[in-house]
Amino acid sequence: MTGDVTGDMNGGGVGSRRAVVVGGGSGIGAACAVRLASDGYAVVVADRDLGAAESVAAGLAGDGHVARAVEVTDETSVAALFEGLDVVHAVVNSAGTSTLGEVKDLPVDQFRAVVDVNLVGGFLVVQQAARHLVRGGAVVSLTSLNARQPGGGMSAYCSAKAGLAMLTEVAALELGPAGIRVNAVSPGLVVTPLTAPAMDIPGVKDDYVANTPLGRPGTPEEVAAAVSWLCSEESSWMTGEVMDLNGGAHTQRYPDLLGHVNRMLGT
Ligand SMILES: NC(=O)c1ccc[n+]([C@@H]2O[C@H](COP(=O)([O-])OP(=O)(O)OC[C@H]3O[C@@H](n4cnc5c(N)ncnc54)[C@H](O)[C@@H]3O)[C@@H](O)[C@H]2O)c1
Repeated sequence: MTGDVTGDMNGGGVGSRRAVVVGGGSGIGAACAVRLASDGYAVVVADRDLGAAESVAAGLAGDGHVARAVEVTDETSVAALFEGLDVVHAVVNSAGTSTLGEVKDLPVDQFRAVVDVNLVGGFLVVQQAARHLVRGGAVVSLTSLNARQPGGGMSAYCSAKAGLAMLTEVAALELGPAGIRVNAVSPGLVVTPLTAPAMDIPGVKDDYVANTPLGRPGTPEEVAAAVSWLCSEESSWMTGEVMDLNGGAHTQRYPDLLGHVNRMLGT
């Protein structure tokens, strides 16, 4: 990366394609930024953690990458991210968060906070993508195996991701005539800072592996490869698709996360 990560968002050079990766400061989003940069995009790495976005942008191959702060739950912040961009060819919607608690106990504020980031934030990013993508452009959201497979204690996350999956289909329906494709990738377990705390709970990773035909978690790079394909012309006839990417875990059952937590706590 040779450009100024805090500089001109349209500095990718004549003929370059522009991608915006929201939630690009960590995990899957960071891997998407790396992959799209190597695909030849000038990448806007956006995250609420500006320092993390800057360090991802600084490590990207090629020119014209920048880092920006964004808070996806704030309509003004998401609009401001896209305001200075002249053309956008690809948008990745990867900001996300989760919480754990049974329906009977979960404080509504925690439920709202998770829905706000994953679903309302996802809506605001897709809305700006709809307003800024060029004809032939694509937006890809990160939904989850939990959009279709329930996990005990994960009502907020599962509900939000199921909502984002349906939003993907509705937006695809509406934006098809404008030549904008809208898809999602639904990963199973990928080891990132988001899932690292769950990996420390004895039994969780083993339970996922035991219920996954390919017998392992995925990597951020494997998810980024699918996102890259969905942003590219190679997938030019695909829209409204929520793509499972989980080693086959959707054919079996989700790990008993609450059971493992309770065993760990002796409750
Ligand atoms: N890791 C997995 O196993 C997994 C599985 C299925 C789906 N996903 C989804 O993939 C996406 C990326 O997950 P990850 O594992 O890379 O997580 P991560 O925690 O490593 O990265 C998420 C990034 O989003 C940013 N972010 C969070 N809230 C934000 C907000 N309000 N505004 C702006 N940025 C915000 C964080 O700062 C972070 O950089 C998420 O949507 C997640 O739900 C992850």
